[in-house]
Amino acid sequence: MPTPAVTTTTIAPSRRAAGRVTVPGDKSISHRYAMLAALADGVTTIRGYSTGFDCRTTLACLRALGAGVDWTPEVVTIAGRGLASPAAPLDCENSGTTMRLLAGLAAGYPFVTTFTGDASLRRRPMRRVIAPLTAMGARIESSNHRAPFTIHGGQLHGIAHAPEVPSAQIKSCVLLAGLLAEGTTTIEERTPTRDHTERAIETFNGRVVVSRGAISVEGGQRLQALDLRVPGDISGAAFWCALAAGTPGGRITIEGVGLNPTRTGLLEILRRAGARVTVDHAEPSAPEASGAIHVECGDWNHFVIAPEEVPGVIDEIPALAALAAMMPEGRTLTVRGAEELRVKESDRIASLAAGFRAMGSEVTEFDDGFVLTARPLHGAAVDPAHDHRLAMAFAIAATRADRPVTIVGSEVAAVSYPNFMETLAHVTAGA
Ligand code: S3P
Repeated sequence: MPTPAVTTTTIAPSRRAAGRVTVPGDKSISHRYAMLAALADGVTTIRGYSTGFDCRTTLACLRALGAGVDWTPEVVTIAGRGLASPAAPLDCENSGTTMRLLAGLAAGYPFVTTFTGDASLRRRPMRRVIAPLTAMGARIESSNHRAPFTIHGGQLHGIAHAPEVPSAQIKSCVLLAGLLAEGTTTIEERTPTRDHTERAIETFNGRVVVSRGAISVEGGQRLQALDLRVPGDISGAAFWCALAAGTPGGRITIEGVGLNPTRTGLLEILRRAGARVTVDHAEPSAPEASGAIHVECGDWNHFVIAPEEVPGVIDEIPALAALAAMMPEGRTLTVRGAEELRVKESDRIASLAAGFRAMGSEVTEFDDGFVLTARPLHGAAVDPAHDHRLAMAFAIAATRADRPVTIVGSEVAAVSYPNFMETLAHVTAGA
């Protein structure tokens, strides 16, 4: 994201959370459709493509890699012709998905690509993709397995790889490289992660074999361009779910949301926390299911996110923490087994704890999680630490504070959700 002037948004206390909203296109699916379109034969159109900066960054990088990319607010058009040597380092800005997935593709081409990003992305661990790509035959130079790193790509060979951490980004990086490699590439997943890459390859008429946690692709497959639609991002919808569930009388419907079963763990956790949640599946048979989510405020229960649930809700934990912070005094949210939160766009355990404490919540931190205990929320200035999901989580909880809360650097929400603060004003208006 280009560095705009720091924006401060002030959230006034509110008693209302009502309405129907739509959310930007799913970020994970948008990245994948764009990347596979660049490999496919023909011209792909993508409607509903995420308006967030991260997904624009992917388009800019693909253009730098020689893809024909055209973007209007309605449709992204990509002429697939494979990738070509970029003239300059690829700046992945704040987007880990752009960097890790494109690294897989760049490794399969006979040219040199340097990947870099903003200060946050340059701190994030890249050994997790550098190691398997090296095992497939790429030569990669880096300092301490962080960006910037340089890939000398070429003919790869298939491997079987079991990632050390459950991560859809690692899985996708290796599967994308596998499409360009000789032979079979297999990822062994101990804990399932979002399966958008597998579905997207099949949508582009490729073949993926899934058997007991092992996901395989053959190299050299021809993918075919097509017309696609991206459903709304459930990770963005999570904030409206939290707002409705945490506001007495709250009732919000989010329309056209992606309901891929590897992403809907959020809904079960909301129910356990006491919210009334119903779902209308509009398109269960599309490559990515979608429908409307209705959330109403119900009871407020203590709730726990168990370690085995974490990969399925890794991006929704800030929104669920906001819900916990809005609950009556003494209710708790316990999260363990979530050490991956420490290597997201910020150290999400430390930054989340600091922000909610500044508003009055009690937070106990662990290496792999936290316990948030609801206390009366009060006015404060909070710092989302350049992390889009924390800016949005703090804004949601701020509606329950007794005095206005200012979010310093709130523009970062645009990484995934450009109109977030306007929609928040809309659904809380009339309080
Ligand atoms: C993503 C996977 C997750 C998630 C990220 C998007 C993806 O990251 O947190 O926002 O699109 O594959 P990890 O693979 O690092 O868990």
